[in-house]
Amino acid sequence: MNKLKIMSVFGTRPEAIKMAPVIKALEEDEKIQSIVCVTAQHREMLDQVLSLFEITPDYDLNIMKAGQSLGEITTRALIGLEEVIKKVKPHMILVHGDTSTTFAGALAAFYQQVNVGHVEAGLRSHNMYSPYPEEMNRSLTARLSNIHFSPTKGNEENLLKEGIEKEKIVITGNTVIDALLQVVRKDYKFEDERLNQIDYENKKVILLTSHRRENLGKPMENIFTAVKEIVLENEDVEVVFPVHLNPKVRDLAYGILGNVERVHLIEPLEYEPFANLIGKSYLILTDSGGIQEEAPSLGKPVLVLRTETERPEAVKAGTVKMVGVEKEAIYSVASTLIHDKKCYDKMANAINPYGDGQASYRIVENIKNYYKI
Ligand code: UD1
Ligand code: UDP
Repeated sequence: MNKLKIMSVFGTRPEAIKMAPVIKALEEDEKIQSIVCVTAQHREMLDQVLSLFEITPDYDLNIMKAGQSLGEITTRALIGLEEVIKKVKPHMILVHGDTSTTFAGALAAFYQQVNVGHVEAGLRSHNMYSPYPEEMNRSLTARLSNIHFSPTKGNEENLLKEGIEKEKIVITGNTVIDALLQVVRKDYKFEDERLNQIDYENKKVILLTSHRRENLGKPMENIFTAVKEIVLENEDVEVVFPVHLNPKVRDLAYGILGNVERVHLIEPLEYEPFANLIGKSYLILTDSGGIQEEAPSLGKPVLVLRTETERPEAVKAGTVKMVGVEKEAIYSVASTLIHDKKCYDKMANAINPYGDGQASYRIVENIKNYYKI
């Protein structure tokens, strides 16, 4: 039989990180022809990951524009992907998670009557405007998918409640763990000397990231002001903030935290140093999805700068806490973790509800089962 043509479609940094191990597993399988198509909804942040994992896309739609709107991303991706799918005629496309690239990819494949496999399927916050537009992107992608690769049992349950047949769902673990295990090392040294010079043993290093659309404006202002107050009041606290390339995030970050002592505003880090920085930090403050999955397996407490999460597993286990986006709440919970060792130790447990690092292989095996090869 001819090889099974599987085309992976993604466009942003987190999708690339979480799809990289899947692409490697597809490439290793002699029954499969792996094709990679990026929309490049992100440019520099995507390219960092492609180069780390040595992935050269077969197709690159290069759609990113500064300050792009959701409608612009979706239409540019949809039109570009239609052309590529017509040309490649894959047996199946794989999309990941919840971005506008994900939804456009699934829709473009559906229009060409091509099967869709959804990696990281079934996460739900049950609030259509938070995370926005990711919750809706995930739900719509589920409707368009033929096979759903769910990281956890809870994710499967969400899909079953929406009427998706059990035989179309496979619980795989999250591929982020596959990626993380490849890059984190105890003796890791940063290329950026500023990061090597930080005293991770004696200082309490807070790693901060924030980029969510629903946090732009006032919520982000609250977050950055709370962080500023925490640093100014605690001489042993240092903050590292790799600032997302979104100009709206950058303006606020540099405006509020730009000249604050012991706050290091740096460019987005490549995945390898970033993952190792999680491992060396004391505490993580973030509105990111992926970081909520990575930090618990490295035993680092996470305060989630959001009002909900579609990742309840680590919250239940006690290593992740939802603190919302009000200044007082962020200030107060972070201060407790800085001063109260008992409270900190209770949260700093290495738990990993997201898998054993073999998710990518399970995905590939189940794609082959689907086609009975
Ligand atoms: C997107 C995803 C979000 C995901 C996030 C990961 C959607 C709607 N949003 O949000 O789900 O969590 O990526 O970071 O799909 N930019 C650059 N270079 C880059 C990347 C971004 O300059 O490499 C700037 C551009 O000005 C761009 C802006 O950031 O217009 C926002 O990018 P966009 O993809 O629209 O939104 P994100 O907030 O990154
Ligand atoms: N990340 C990175 N460099 C950074 C910040 C984050 O490589 O400077 C990684 C992080 O380890 C995680 C992913 O990017 O795997 C999360 O991306 P992001 O927060 O942009 O998106 P989300 O997960 O919220 O969709």
